[in-house]
Amino acid sequence: MQNFDYMTPTRLIFGKDCIGKLPEVMEKIGKKVLLTYGGGSIRKIGLYDKVKELLSDFDIIELSDIQPNPKYDPSVLDGVKLCKENNIEVILSVGGGSVLDCSKAIAAGAMYDGDPWDLISYKVKAKAALPIVDIITLAATGSEYDCGGVISRTETNDKIGYIDEHLYPVVSFLDPTYTFTVSKKQTAAGCADAMNHIMEQYFCEDSSILNDGFMEAGLKSLMVNARKCLADPEDYTARAEMMLTCTYGCNGIYALGNSYTGWPCHGMEHALSAYYDITHGEGLAIITPRWMKHILSDKTVSRFVKYGVNVFGIDSGLGDYEMAEKAIQATYEFFESIGIPMHLRDVGIDESRIGEMARHVAENEGLENAWVPLSEKDIADIFTASL
Ligand code: NZQ
Ligand code: ZN
Repeated sequence: MQNFDYMTPTRLIFGKDCIGKLPEVMEKIGKKVLLTYGGGSIRKIGLYDKVKELLSDFDIIELSDIQPNPKYDPSVLDGVKLCKENNIEVILSVGGGSVLDCSKAIAAGAMYDGDPWDLISYKVKAKAALPIVDIITLAATGSEYDCGGVISRTETNDKIGYIDEHLYPVVSFLDPTYTFTVSKKQTAAGCADAMNHIMEQYFCEDSSILNDGFMEAGLKSLMVNARKCLADPEDYTARAEMMLTCTYGCNGIYALGNSYTGWPCHGMEHALSAYYDITHGEGLAIITPRWMKHILSDKTVSRFVKYGVNVFGIDSGLGDYEMAEKAIQATYEFFESIGIPMHLRDVGIDESRIGEMARHVAENEGLENAWVPLSEKDIADIFTASL
């Protein structure tokens, strides 16, 4: 087991109607609020009105229309400007991971005098950030329990995972009923994203019985509950378990003491959504089984055996490579069975920019240090196999 230094300062408030506690939570943090949200889903589910009613005696400025794969320009820049002009004290993010990620970048940018891109691109380390409270409405990213945000800059085809310990939300409200309206496409993509968060931590050199069991249970929980949510979008128990399993995703708790993995599928997917603005979870589902095939070797086969036997119930009497290949096939088939398009061409990506994307990933994502190091050629091969 590796050494670690771990703390999650975020308070989770979970369950039906939990946002009743919003005023008392916000009262302690600040009265001047930047309310951030996306393209309208929170209005459709009545959450916008509910928040405005609960915070009727707060001073609220709004930033709306934050898009999936949130953009530096205009959303982050507009948000920073609003915070500075209005002396905002707290950001309230209401929506999915994109709204929350954008809010995190705004929170850091609001406390910095220069160009916020300096922070996101790690040229300058943030000294502080505005406090963030969120009401998460989509089970997927785990942004509600971690200190990262992923920001896209269209003109440079950058999609950067901006991680800084100042960016943990102070409080996250998780009410599963707000996820009842999440579409089948986003429910499946959220499941694939959260499964991949676990896989990115599971496939490594040094793990423990404890962590493997926790992650295998997480994967099984996501698969069972995603199917239930797709069959009955208002199944509270399934939406609730899915929400909590997703929340653990990127906060480190699944893999305390495990060795470094490099999160290779995320590194590669960032290029796909940066160049083509596709749905993050779909890009991951497409790449994952191809990456698995690509890295299967004597070094990695025992991890795939464990994964296959414990997560998919593959017959442990078979040969190692047969079990590993069945595990990879089962991964592919699960994603396909929940309706995810399983080829890059299905999401509008052809071979024309594979070379350029592979170079971008090789130069920016550090995958030469992944558990199984990936060169530019490896990355291009995985993209090509995903077509
Ligand atoms: O914009 P609105 O109208 O709100 O609609 C959204 C959006 O169109 C809709 N939606 C959200 N909640 C809904 C709903 N529709 C109906 N009912 C609801 N309750 O869903 C669409 C997608 O929303 P988005 O926020 O983009 O999805 P998600 O939460 O999956 O976030 C994806 C982003 O998070 C990043 C991804 O790269 C991507 O940019 N990630 C962030 C991570 C983190 N901070 O730790 C880790 C992840 O690996 C991921 O990379
Ligand atoms: Zn992800």
